Amino acid sequence: MADPVYMKILVIHGPNLNLLGKREPGIYGTLTLSEIDGKMRAKASELGMDLAIVQSNSEAGIIDAIQKDDYDLLIINPAAYTHTSIAIRDAISSVGKPAIEVHLSNIHRREEFRRKSYTAEVSLGQISGFGAESYVLALIAANHIISQG
Ligand code: DQA
Repeated sequence: MADPVYMKILVIHGPNLNLLGKREPGIYGTLTLSEIDGKMRAKASELGMDLAIVQSNSEAGIIDAIQKDDYDLLIINPAAYTHTSIAIRDAISSVGKPAIEVHLSNIHRREEFRRKSYTAEVSLGQISGFGAESYVLALIAANHIISQG
């Protein structure tokens, strides 16, 4: 069997996502970030993927993780930086790895300012609005990309 094209997945959670569970649960749900990470690890092991997971509250921390360049595909929830950060957008396009943007909430049915995503413009696609399942769906999408070679 041919080796998969992408093997190592880097997951980046942006600012304030460390507060999940207690942060606006009506919007973001009641699962903590470590519970979401656990769901992802279970799915990744089912799909035979190697996951590295990073959470950072700073733009620099996110950019440094993207620039490490030791992964094959990026799954990123840039949180509020989605709507503001040309620097994160440029980091994704500079490294040139395929990226999938994820949001817990549906950013298109909230405030107007959330509809703009700088990072979606340099991503393969965006999964938004399915709560913690958005991350699991991103892994399934990544697996489809892998199996297409
Ligand atoms: C979010 C949506 C963003 O607009 C917001 O700033 C977040 C979380 C989401 O996952 O729904 O922090 O990225």
